Amino acid sequence: MTAGAAASLSRLTIDQEEAASASGSFGEDVRAGLSSSPKRLPARHLYDAVGSALYEAITLLPEYYLTRAECAILERYAGVILERVGDAEIVELGPGNGSKSRIVLEAALRRQQIVHYHPIDISASALQVLAERLVAEYDRLVVSAHCGDYRRALLARRPRDDTRVMVMFLGSSIGNYERNEAVGLLQSIAMALRPGDALLLGVDLKKSRQELELAYDDPCGVTAAFNRNVLARINRELGGSFDLQRFRFLVAYDERRACVDSFQESVVDQRVAIAALGMHVDFARGERIHTESSYKYDADEIRAIARDGGFSVDAAWTDAAQRFSVNLLVRR
Ligand code: AVI
Repeated sequence: MTAGAAASLSRLTIDQEEAASASGSFGEDVRAGLSSSPKRLPARHLYDAVGSALYEAITLLPEYYLTRAECAILERYAGVILERVGDAEIVELGPGNGSKSRIVLEAALRRQQIVHYHPIDISASALQVLAERLVAEYDRLVVSAHCGDYRRALLARRPRDDTRVMVMFLGSSIGNYERNEAVGLLQSIAMALRPGDALLLGVDLKKSRQELELAYDDPCGVTAAFNRNVLARINRELGGSFDLQRFRFLVAYDERRACVDSFQESVVDQRVAIAALGMHVDFARGERIHTESSYKYDADEIRAIARDGGFSVDAAWTDAAQRFSVNLLVRR
């Protein structure tokens, strides 16, 4: 190992929750979700190594405007955001490949001598790659990475003296939670913070059905593959017998709930076995498995979930086309 590599690794720690709790017990969730009526699978299980790679590809699609819009906002306003927050250590929930994290970290490094960064992610491999790259690239960055559940990781984190903390939860990941769960997550974040600490929240905004259904069902079929991978994952990890050709991907925007719902729909009557769970599942033709909710918000609703979660909205920024918003919340 070179001296430079050793020096960068001295600024890196990675800790990991026990595998069973970190994975959130895939098998138990599959059993419960496919035994329920209507059938459903929690969206977090879309993100194994294959699913995470397919999601990265989605973020590059012209139809999936969310990532580009959010990056444009951060490129333009990261300096202003950090000016409002002041010097802070940065905690990030679900940094993915870190493309958005870098924009904010670079802005923080322009004003702070040392920046402490705590990425928290369920995917150990992605987290390790990101953390090692960041310490190698930025020599004034100290990274303490944690692989595991957001809430447990937040509560386990011990605050360093009285340094201000800014948590980042970007990418409209809050939209993948039911509204009451979104408030619950914000409350958990608030519990791990002190009054005056900040939460930078990326939220996708309400828009036309046409734009949303295209963003979530792209003509290249990348999103369909991302979604279908959860059935392939059951085959790989739990000895499932899903014939992927016998399901089709379906997306529908429910305007009343302002939610894009994603499904796998059985195209025939069929029975699927899942060996590791010792169960089989019957599907009628046309029966669906709900695989993901992507809720959309407006400014009033963002203010409402912030308030119910223990925060107030200090400032908000949108992209030029008003498709996406980045909100700076302050812990009350
Ligand atoms: C990660 N999450 C915010 C994405 C979304 O927009 O709901 C996941 C995704 N599903 C389909 N395309 C992207």
